[in-house]
Amino acid sequence: MKPVYDECGIQIYHAHAEEVLPYVSGVDLVFTSPPYNLSGFGRKVKWGSDWVKLIDGYDTHSDDMPYPLYRGWQQHCLNLCWESLSDTGAIFYNHKPILRDGIAHLPFELNPGLPLRQVITWDRCSGFTNTKHYYTPAYEWILVMAKPGFRLSRVGASFDIWKVMPDAANKHPAPFPIELPTRAIDTGTLDEHPGGALILDPFMGSGTTLVAAKASGRRGIGIETSEKYIEMAIKRLDQGSFGV
Ligand SMILES: C[S@@+](CC[C@H](N)C(=O)[O-])C[C@H]1O[C@@H](n2cnc3c(N)ncnc32)[C@H](O)[C@@H]1O
Repeated sequence: MKPVYDECGIQIYHAHAEEVLPYVSGVDLVFTSPPYNLSGFGRKVKWGSDWVKLIDGYDTHSDDMPYPLYRGWQQHCLNLCWESLSDTGAIFYNHKPILRDGIAHLPFELNPGLPLRQVITWDRCSGFTNTKHYYTPAYEWILVMAKPGFRLSRVGASFDIWKVMPDAANKHPAPFPIELPTRAIDTGTLDEHPGGALILDPFMGSGTTLVAAKASGRRGIGIETSEKYIEMAIKRLDQGSFGV
C-alpha cells in the first residue's frame, strides 16, 4: 500500500490501521488515542459541550460498536502495534474510564496482555458534566506498554501527572494537545537508531503526533480512515502549525 503523503520522513496512509500495521516495523514510539466508542450512549445521555462533538462519531467511524467487538478490535490493534516496535520501543495509549449503565469500564480491559510499565494521568485542567451520577471527570490516562529495553532519557525525566489544557483551536472532534506526544518524544530515549527514531500513530486524526514528530526531527507514520482529517494533518504538517 502506498502512502498518500510522504515528505521529510513523514508518511500518511489513508486506510484502516489494522490493514497497514502488519507491514510496519522498527517503530520506537507509538503515541495514539483510538476512538473511545462513545457515541452509542451519546444518544441516551445528554452530555456537556466537551462531549457533544462526539455524539455522531467521527467522519468515517460511527464509534458505537458493541463493547465486546470494540474490545477485541482494540486488543488486535495493540498487538499489531506491539509487533511493529523495536526492542527498546513503547506504546503510549491514551484512553479513559468510560461509564456504561452505571459501571466504569477501565481501559486496562483493552490491553491484550502486553506488559504495562506505567499509567500516566493526563490532567486536562478542565471538565464538564451535567449529570449527578458521578463527579466531573477532568483526567484521562496514558497507558505505557513497554518493551523490556525501553528507558527514559534521564532519571526523573517527568512526573507521571501531565497537566495540559486541551487544544480548543483544533477542529477535529477529539484531538489531544501536541504537548502530550512532544513530552513522550522528548523524555523517551529515541535517538539511538540509525536513520532517526520512528514515531507511529495508527489512529492519526488531525496528525498531532506527526506534527510533534516532525517538529523534533523524527520520522513518523500516521494511519487514518478519514480523508477530511488527513487533509487537516497535511495542512498542519506543511504549515508547521500546531492549530488547524
Ligand atoms: C481520538 S481520534 C485521534 C485524534 C488525534 N489524536 C488528534 O490529535 O487529532 C481517533 C481517530 O481514529 C480514526 N479511526 C477510526 N477508525 C480507524 C481505523 N480503523 N484506522 C485508522 N483510523 C481510524 C478516526 O477517524 C479518528 O480520527
